[in-house]
Amino acid sequence: MNWFIDTISTSIGKKLLMAVTGLGFCMFLLIHMIGNLTLYGGKDLFMAYVEHLHALSPLILAAEIGLVFFACVHVATGLILFLENRRARPVGYAVKKNAGGRTFGSATMPYTGFIILCFLILHLINFRFIEQTPDAIFQAVSGTLSDVSFKIIYIAAVFVVALHVRHGFWSLFQTLGANHLKYMPMIQAIGIAFALLALAGFGLIPIVIGFIA
Ligand code: HEM
Repeated sequence: MNWFIDTISTSIGKKLLMAVTGLGFCMFLLIHMIGNLTLYGGKDLFMAYVEHLHALSPLILAAEIGLVFFACVHVATGLILFLENRRARPVGYAVKKNAGGRTFGSATMPYTGFIILCFLILHLINFRFIEQTPDAIFQAVSGTLSDVSFKIIYIAAVFVVALHVRHGFWSLFQTLGANHLKYMPMIQAIGIAFALLALAGFGLIPIVIGFIA
């Protein structure tokens, strides 16, 4: 625990923890989205994917433990940074719009992060803490996402995820030292492409779910 206290007590240490855990989430999000794309191929393809996924259970368990650990570090460090920033600047800037490179995405990172945390709890209750057979998981996905309120919640959550990831992706590479004039435009473009890909890949599922059989 000492390494964590030492790292978290410096500003660059906190930013590094956010960057490394954020990169881990981006990788998870990409893998999760590729897996979910099987839904577009119909029930049988999705069930075959879930069956393959569950056959890797020791690996999945290790990944889940890693994800929970990363989530705790990301949320705790983000909360500390948020509180420190508020203490340093309780009133906020008089001119907020794009001051010092600030964008809507960057200014709302703590709030979009909190919304994603709430969404994740709901999402795990919907699809993870249920009977873990391929058929039960398919029924849960198609049943839940056929409900109009859940459709709206899931689409809105995916928008928030895209906004968070779009800024987070750029920011993590900046922290990891890739803030070179030559590479930054490319990293910005990859961040936007990644956010749009997540938006389309996840966000269309609640819209097309009624046609998947
Ligand atoms: C419409 C969009 C989505 C669908 C249909 C979906 C579907 C699923 C399903 C079926 C599972 C359970 C997998 C299994 O145990 O076999 C799951 C787990 C999970 N999802 Fe999603 N998901 C969506 C969006 C998201 C988003 C946007 C995030 C991140 C912000 C996310 C994060 C997770 C996490 C962390 C787990 C637990 C992983 C594990 O325990 O191995 N999901 N999702």
